Amino acid sequence: MLCRHSLFLLGLLHLRLCDNWLGLVQAQQTFFPAAVPLAVRTPTFNCWLQTANGSNPMASWPTFWNNQHILGWAGYIKVDGQTWHWLGDPIPGNASTWLSTQITPTRTIITVQAGPMQLNVTFLSPVEPSDWSKQSFPFSYVYIDGKATDNQPHSIQLYSDISGEWVTNSLATPIQWSSSKIGSTSYHQVRSTNALSTFQDVAEDSVAYHAISTEQPNLVSIIGTDQALRAQFATNQEGIFLTTDLAGQFGNVRGTDGKFPVLAHAVNLGTVETISSVAWAVGVVRDPITTFMNVSRRAYYWSQYATIDDAIAAFVDDFPAARTRAIALDEQILQAATAVSQDYADLVSLATRQAMAGMDITLSTSPDGTWNFSDVKIFMKDVGNSQRVNPTETIYGALPALMYFNTSFIGALLEPLLEYQSSSAYTNPFAASDLGLGYPAVPGDPSSDALFAVENSGNMLILALAHARSSGDGSLIGRYYLLLKQWADYLSNNSLIPSQQSPADSREASLAQTHGNITNLALKGIIAVQAMAEISQIKAEAADAQKYGATAESLAQSWISMTMASSQLLWTYGESASYGLMYNLLAEKLLQLNLFPQTVYAAESTSLSNHAADLPPFGFALSSESSANTRSDWTLFTAATVPDNATRDRLISTVRAKASANASAGTFPNLYDVQTGAGPGAGISPNGFASPAQGAMFSLLALAVPNKTVVIPPSAPAKTSAGGSHTSNAGAIAGGVVGGLASVLLLAGLALFLHRRKRRTDADGEMATPQPYNGAPNMAQMFDAPGESATSPTSASGAIHVPPSRGPTANAFPSKAVMGGVLRTANAEPTSAVPSSQPGSSHLPSVSGTSVSRGTNDENLRSEMVRLRQEVEQLRAAQVPQEAPPVYE
Ligand SMILES: *[C@@H]1O[C@H](CO)[C@@H](O)[C@H](O)[C@H]1NC(C)=O
Ligand SMILES: *[C@@H]1O[C@H](CO)[C@@H](O)[C@H](O)[C@H]1NC(C)=O
Ligand SMILES: *[C@@H]1O[C@H](CO)[C@@H](O)[C@H](O)[C@H]1NC(C)=O
Ligand SMILES: *[C@@H]1O[C@H](CO)[C@@H](O)[C@H](O)[C@H]1NC(C)=O
Ligand SMILES: *[C@@H]1O[C@H](CO)[C@@H](O)[C@H](O)[C@H]1NC(C)=O
Ligand SMILES: *[C@@H]1O[C@H](CO)[C@@H](O)[C@H](O)[C@H]1NC(C)=O
Ligand SMILES: *[C@@H]1O[C@H](CO)[C@@H](O)[C@H](O)[C@H]1NC(C)=O
Ligand SMILES: *[C@@H]1O[C@H](CO)[C@@H](O)[C@H](O)[C@H]1NC(C)=O
Ligand SMILES: *[C@@H]1O[C@H](CO)[C@@H](O)[C@H](O)[C@H]1NC(C)=O
Repeated sequence: MLCRHSLFLLGLLHLRLCDNWLGLVQAQQTFFPAAVPLAVRTPTFNCWLQTANGSNPMASWPTFWNNQHILGWAGYIKVDGQTWHWLGDPIPGNASTWLSTQITPTRTIITVQAGPMQLNVTFLSPVEPSDWSKQSFPFSYVYIDGKATDNQPHSIQLYSDISGEWVTNSLATPIQWSSSKIGSTSYHQVRSTNALSTFQDVAEDSVAYHAISTEQPNLVSIIGTDQALRAQFATNQEGIFLTTDLAGQFGNVRGTDGKFPVLAHAVNLGTVETISSVAWAVGVVRDPITTFMNVSRRAYYWSQYATIDDAIAAFVDDFPAARTRAIALDEQILQAATAVSQDYADLVSLATRQAMAGMDITLSTSPDGTWNFSDVKIFMKDVGNSQRVNPTETIYGALPALMYFNTSFIGALLEPLLEYQSSSAYTNPFAASDLGLGYPAVPGDPSSDALFAVENSGNMLILALAHARSSGDGSLIGRYYLLLKQWADYLSNNSLIPSQQSPADSREASLAQTHGNITNLALKGIIAVQAMAEISQIKAEAADAQKYGATAESLAQSWISMTMASSQLLWTYGESASYGLMYNLLAEKLLQLNLFPQTVYAAESTSLSNHAADLPPFGFALSSESSANTRSDWTLFTAATVPDNATRDRLISTVRAKASANASAGTFPNLYDVQTGAGPGAGISPNGFASPAQGAMFSLLALAVPNKTVVIPPSAPAKTSAGGSHTSNAGAIAGGVVGGLASVLLLAGLALFLHRRKRRTDADGEMATPQPYNGAPNMAQMFDAPGESATSPTSASGAIHVPPSRGPTANAFPSKAVMGGVLRTANAEPTSAVPSSQPGSSHLPSVSGTSVSRGTNDENLRSEMVRLRQEVEQLRAAQVPQEAPPVYE
């Protein structure tokens, strides 16, 4: 089984088998990202290893995604009394020899030589698209496999620790730490004691965990100073010597004393020839995630576990199964991606964890304290570009990955945007840019919305239809139909000749919309109007479907006549030399709208291939006019639309060249200079780093995601600003082509119906009732602190802040420091205090049976409608074959 996986991956990753200097079979690396993902699950649990050319990955500390902040994480192996480190740059110890790094969608495998031992150090960040409890749990694994290259048994001890840097921005932040054991899991935790609820990058309002199974042989779990523990482990003796018997009190808190605790687990394997998957877990937990519309929201996994201890223990116990699932998912993705090309498989591999880690999946509780499983909302951070929450263009960029992994993610991302824009707080006739400017605060942010009105309205309609079509779930369309329609009306009037959307700012530039008359922006608006026609059809609003369909058709014809010139596509109306990445064509293709003829797609290929001779090393600029920058996401969108494989492969290879260009440091940016590859903004929150919009790498795979029959749940609760509840129980209807007599009848019925509805709508009240605040447990309740009284630091007078220590010589605080909590497997420690939480009684999505007030005439109309729809469904059933099963199963 494992052997099969290895061979399979060897083939897929294009690894060349060759003899290295040790005379061993070793993989030859061809892909060299400047940073590789280590533990990447959420916007705030996002740890990378810089592997830029010139930096030895075995002598570099892991960093936060911004490449500005070290996340202390040290790994040692001791072989016959001599010690090498396989992670971080701890003192003492010698760096093991780095041999290669492989990246799969869920794993980063670093192969190193430590004396006679060759190790595969695997960093596994699970991607669990079908289990949102698992997907939302912000933990990752690291595990070690190894073999003696001299085929001799050796005395082996392994060690891993993390520091408080995972939850602090500076050594001045007071922290607190402790150790626990639950079931067969031993873990440590550290958190700040004056947590700020706002953060820019590293979240101080979180708890970091380091866990291991107690079934590991001769486990020692201990917290102490870096100097004490690392030096003790690395002494030239066989076995583990981590003790508490140093004089003095290390305690369990840091005030202003500059203490630098590390939270360590070490195991003694004894004398062995091979090492078989010794695993640790790390995690960074924020709770609650946010408060939206006055309702506190916690990560989804809390609905499955009574306590964090249970969740950690389940994660640790699940390791073998999680690894099997991850390998299977990797195989599935890589098999599909290598059918395009190896370059493409590399891009998808690097992008997967980055895309998935942009999101926090949340739930609320009902007033009775039980989990409300019909209220799942996802919050996405515009990691690396701004701090914005659920920015529409970033969700749009990530759309291909979201469709590929589980299209329900799109619905849960759109839900809060739609809910906010249905509230009285939002009055614009076009869609909002996002939910707020500073993750995780979601107050809404109408300030910039007018500046991106076509962009955002187009994104929302396209995303809404993409969600419905690929999930079959019509509930958003059922509930927010009138809101969507409002945006379609705006686009019907404003998209063909888009005005300059805003003074050219960085966002405008990164969309290549730096002035008016941009054809690619017009294209998005027109596609979105056609999307509305399809949405109307799903909703059985035949008159609307007809209207938007006719409008889109006419706009499309005008667009083609103004944009196509000499079989090429202009970037700006009237500018004959202009061209660019016409990336919004992907939306038309994904939605199969058949609005634009194949000649339009071919013309884009021609525009780009005519300029292939001037192609800069890292790709075509976004447009011939805007700047020297390009975007990886829009390049891959374009690659998935061009009909000729040569242009497609050229676009893919330039992005792959950037992803593998490690001359400049930093995580895979989606915005960079086409000549140098440099991201435009280094520094704190550098532009373009680690954006979830890299989900766009899945553009070609998303094209294979099948349609489903869209069903609007009969009792979807109404949530439109114009009170659409009276249409929401009209019954399920299949999306798609409505034909023959039935549609004529339907049209007549609808005209009458719509007339009545308009009258009612005008009289209806507007607002959904605000949700009560549920007061979910906060961090303090969740955190288990043995010495909670000791949270405030004692007098700071005369205290000197020392920089984080990497070794004994660098640290100024007294050497009498001793570790606080020691935990050996033999002594069971008391388990953590149980946080107050509300485990869900069941995990079934509840569809509440909203009752609807019914007028007699409406009732008659409605039963007529239902009858008509049944006929349409029968017609469809006769014509349309059962759709294929979803791609991911
Ligand atoms: C690293 O830089 C050196 C010197 O510039 C170059 O020869 C080598 O090819 C680079 N390696 C990679 C993997 O880019
Ligand atoms: C590092 O390597 C040197 C040279 O082989 C050796 O003398 C020393 O003991 C090693 N350090 C540790 C901590 O093992
Ligand atoms: C997508 O997520 C939903 C919600 O968790 C789940 O019910 C569904 O089975 C998932 N679909 C796939 C294809 O994994
Ligand atoms: C490490 O990974 C390589 C490549 O997948 C594999 O050939 C080798 O057997 C692995 N080593 C161990 C000890 O598992
Ligand atoms: C949230 O609560 C505040 C204070 O109770 C209230 O003023 C505000 O309108 C509420 N907001 C929403 C969106 O319900
Ligand atoms: C283009 O590549 C795809 C594989 O991604 C292949 O199926 C198709 O046949 C190729 N088209 C041409 C014209 O070569
Ligand atoms: C559960 O959430 C849905 C969607 O937000 C809401 O309509 C419903 O009222 C909630 N149910 C309870 C019992 O709070
Ligand atoms: C857009 O094009 C039209 C017609 O060519 C022109 O009248 C208008 O000035 C242009 N707008 C901008 C902002 O360039
Ligand atoms: C998907 O649905 C659209 C609209 O109903 C239709 O035009 C298209 O042919 C469908 N595609 C497939 C593959 O079923």
